[in-house]
Amino acid sequence: MSLISLGQRFARLTTNIVVRRPRLWFLLRRLMRFQFDRLAPQWDSLRSSDTAYAPYEAALERVEPPPRRALDLGTGTGGAALAIARRFPEAQVVGADLAERMIEQARHNLADDVRGRVRFEVADASKLPYEDGSFDLVGLSNMIPFFGEIDRVLAPGGFLIVAFSGGAETPIYVPTDRLRAELSRRGFADFAEFSTDPGTALLARKAGRL
Ligand SMILES: C[S@@+](CC[C@H](N)C(=O)[O-])C[C@H]1O[C@@H](n2cnc3c(N)ncnc32)[C@H](O)[C@@H]1O
Repeated sequence: MSLISLGQRFARLTTNIVVRRPRLWFLLRRLMRFQFDRLAPQWDSLRSSDTAYAPYEAALERVEPPPRRALDLGTGTGGAALAIARRFPEAQVVGADLAERMIEQARHNLADDVRGRVRFEVADASKLPYEDGSFDLVGLSNMIPFFGEIDRVLAPGGFLIVAFSGGAETPIYVPTDRLRAELSRRGFADFAEFSTDPGTALLARKAGRL
C-alpha cells in the first residue's frame, strides 16, 4: 500500500473517530499535522484543480446576503479561501489550517486580485483563536467538522458550507445525514444540498439574524 493511500485511510479513520468523539482529537492531532505538513509541497498537484472546489462554489452561489467576514477552515493551500474572496468582493477572508507548511504554501498562492482581503493563519479548528460570532460564513472543503467551535465562531444567522470534492469517496468525509443531525441539534436550519458529481456540499444557516 502506498504512503498516500495509507494517509487517506488514516484521514478517514480520524474523521470517523473525531466526529463521534471530538475529545479524542488530542491523540490524533500530531499525526494529522505531520501528514499534511509532509503533503503540503505537492498538495496542489495531487488534486484535480478543475473540480476540486466545484461543490463548495455551488453552495457559495446560494449564500445571501453576502458575508462580510468569512473563515475557510482546514484551508490547506488556500483555494477555497480565494474562491470566497472572488465571489464576495467586499468580504474579509481568513484561511486557517493546522499545518504550518500548508499555510506557507497558501501565502505563496495568495493572488494579487484578493491580496489585502485574505489572510492565512495557523490554527486548530478544535480550539479556534477567534471571538464568539466572528464570522458570517464558515466553509470547510474536505475538512473534519468540529461542530462546537463552528457554532461558536459563527454569528447568528451565519452560513456554514461543508463540501467534499469526491463526495463519499473523499478520504475526509462525513455523511450528509450525520452533518444534518449534528447541526440540527445545534439549531441550524435552511439546509440545502448540492451535487457536482463527484462533489457534494451541504449549506446550512445558524439560527438568528445576521
Ligand atoms: C484534505 S485537506 C483539505 C485542504 C483544502 N481545504 C482543500 O480542499 O484542498 C485537510 C486540511 O485540513 C487541515 N486540518 C486537519 N485537521 C485540522 C484542524 N483540526 N484544524 C485546522 N486544520 C486542520 C489539514 O492540515 C489539511 O490541510
